[in-house]
Amino acid sequence: MAYEVRGVVSRGRGEPVTVETVLVPDPGPGEAVVDVQACGVCHTDLHYREGGISDDYPFLLGHEAAGTVSAVGAGVTDVAVGDYVILNWRAVCGVCRACARGRPWYCFDTHNATQRMTLADGTALSPALGIGALAEKTLVASGQCTKVDPEAPAAAAGLLGCGVMAGIGAAINTGGVTRGDTVAVFGCGGVGAAAVAGAALAGARTIVAVDVDHRKLGAARHFGATHCVNAREEDPVAAVRAATGGFGADVVIEAVGRPETYKQAFYARDLAGTVVLVGVPTPEMRLEMPLLDFFSHGGALKSSWYGDCLPSRDFPMLIDLYKQGRLDLDRFVSATIGIDQVEEAFAAMHSGDVLRSVVVF
Ligand SMILES: NC(=O)c1ccc[n+]([C@@H]2O[C@H](COP(=O)([O-])OP(=O)(O)OC[C@H]3O[C@@H](n4cnc5c(N)ncnc54)[C@H](O)[C@@H]3O)[C@@H](O)[C@H]2O)c1
Ligand SMILES: [Zn+2]
Ligand SMILES: [Zn+2]
Repeated sequence: MAYEVRGVVSRGRGEPVTVETVLVPDPGPGEAVVDVQACGVCHTDLHYREGGISDDYPFLLGHEAAGTVSAVGAGVTDVAVGDYVILNWRAVCGVCRACARGRPWYCFDTHNATQRMTLADGTALSPALGIGALAEKTLVASGQCTKVDPEAPAAAAGLLGCGVMAGIGAAINTGGVTRGDTVAVFGCGGVGAAAVAGAALAGARTIVAVDVDHRKLGAARHFGATHCVNAREEDPVAAVRAATGGFGADVVIEAVGRPETYKQAFYARDLAGTVVLVGVPTPEMRLEMPLLDFFSHGGALKSSWYGDCLPSRDFPMLIDLYKQGRLDLDRFVSATIGIDQVEEAFAAMHSGDVLRSVVVF
């Protein structure tokens, strides 16, 4: 038996997404079906639609979601029907070379559902980041369900499933921001604003937020930015230096995903500092810089996939901080929308109107 639900499908490069009937199979061994309560619209969903990630159309979009487990397959013991969960795209395998070395947050062989969800005519769908949660129900590997406290509303909690975790983790896990550090964040959309929040949680003394949109800078200030720089109005590299005693920041996080902003992030860093690339570039992007500059600045250039998070460790912890009022997840939810408004959410992302639009079911 398969469940017949509505889902947001991207059928071809650059084509507007459509709401279609999606068939979700009964869960097989190791799988779970989740009734999605809310799913955020992430820039990565737009990358899928644009063909920036792969050509495996049609995609079932959506990957930042929370909901309730409605069915589990044979052998599933980690979650049960009725559990309130945040979906994750890092169900660690436990046996790959990263897991074997005790670094499961890098797991190179994460689990997804084995069966495929399909369109009504049987065409197999590629679920975004192995989730596909812009749908009333979705099929995932049971390890992709992280049980959390149901007191946290789904629209806010679901955002930990991707963008907010990616940003907080880029600061805390990848960047290793610690008490007393100076930090700069380039791009303060959902991911960058979360990086600001992460830096604040970690005890950074200075947090410089850089964006081209004053509304994003306002949000960044809310999350703990001590300085806000509009890169349309002033040179952001000089501004970061000015805010850090002339030196540059200890940790600089790039959350735009463009060569220009990466270059700025690189030069806005203090000697021996760390640059973290969390923005996702497209395949044609290139960067040309003197190799000597890489050598002479020392330090570390890192990329952050999903904030180097371990969902089972990080999601419940961040939900605790939310419940204590120390992490304002609600502020990331700029708008709640219907399943047929994802194109509008993409437009709002472009016009800078939102941190996150969240589809509520
Ligand atoms: N690495 C990961 O695991 C991961 C996870 C989720 C998202 N991402 C990526 O992170 C990036 C940000 O995602 P998002 O959802 O926050 O997107 P977003 O569109 O909401 O945010 C991007 C921000 O960058 C700003 N910006 C644009 N040009 C700029 C410039 N020249 N200087 C400074 N700021 C500029 C925009 O005004 C906007 O606020 C995307 O590339 C997305 O794909 C990465
Ligand atoms: Zn692994
Ligand atoms: Zn995402």
